[in-house]
Amino acid sequence: MPGADMENIQGKIVVITGASSGMGAAAARHLAAKGASVVLGARRAERIEALAAEITEPGGKATSVATDVTKRDDVEKLVDTAVQTYGRIDVLINNAGIMPLSPMDRLKVDEWDRMIDVNLKGVLYGIAAALPRMIEQKSGHIINLSSVAGHKVFGGSTVYSATKTGVRIISEGLRQEVAPHNVRVTIISPGAVKTELLDHISEADVREANQDYVGQVGVPAETFARLVAFAISEPEDVGINEILFRPTAQEL
Ligand SMILES: NC(=O)c1ccc[n+]([C@@H]2O[C@H](COP(=O)([O-])OP(=O)(O)OC[C@H]3O[C@@H](n4cnc5c(N)ncnc54)[C@H](OP(=O)(O)O)[C@@H]3O)[C@@H](O)[C@H]2O)c1
Repeated sequence: MPGADMENIQGKIVVITGASSGMGAAAARHLAAKGASVVLGARRAERIEALAAEITEPGGKATSVATDVTKRDDVEKLVDTAVQTYGRIDVLINNAGIMPLSPMDRLKVDEWDRMIDVNLKGVLYGIAAALPRMIEQKSGHIINLSSVAGHKVFGGSTVYSATKTGVRIISEGLRQEVAPHNVRVTIISPGAVKTELLDHISEADVREANQDYVGQVGVPAETFARLVAFAISEPEDVGINEILFRPTAQEL
């Protein structure tokens, strides 16, 4: 049936963290094209402003709010803006994340702290901001980004994998707790996707090895956009609880 999936995305208010690049930006474009109103959060304000303009210029609906997910007040303001501008929040995509991989013996303790702050606490702040509104509305959908590295640990991914495994545990516990409130919870665990994620690995040898691999096998960020649209577009009585995808060529 043409447009069946559009029906359950059209008109939805979707808040996306980490919307300034990669999968968050691709999801914003895709969902806005399907009729969602998107509320974009990230630290690089000029990027999300430009993306909002790109979406609104041909008639789409988008707003941007400079947001650092490690600051609870910023995340509250992001969700508040969605509610004040559009009247509600239907979907929160907790997508912001960082992956400065390195072996533990290099003691990149500041990067361990940052991964915990962004990947774990940022997700928790998103949940804290959205959940009271969704419970009040008696509907909502929280989508959290884990990773194949949240299912497996590799040399160099130890702390990143710990944060992404934590996201899965938080998501499944949340799912059980909010089921009576008609709030859906989805974990999305991507494999190698071509984005800016690897650019921020500070250890040159680790960065180059990963860029080489993802450059060879990685799929485009639009892959994620299609899958997140699928999870949202299912009817309200169906929760797509977990999506794990890899490039076909990815072995591990
Ligand atoms: N690419 C992959 O292969 C892959 C695989 C599995 C999982 N993932 C996960 O997918 C998610 C999206 O990553 P991506 O691959 O699309 O990478 P990306 O292009 O680097 O995008 C990451 C986004 O997170 C935002 N971000 C980082 N720190 C932030 C902070 N403190 N506050 C707010 N936003 C912040 C960045 O925006 P600003 O810098 O403007 O703040 C950016 O928009 C992440 O959670 C990542 O762990 C990626």
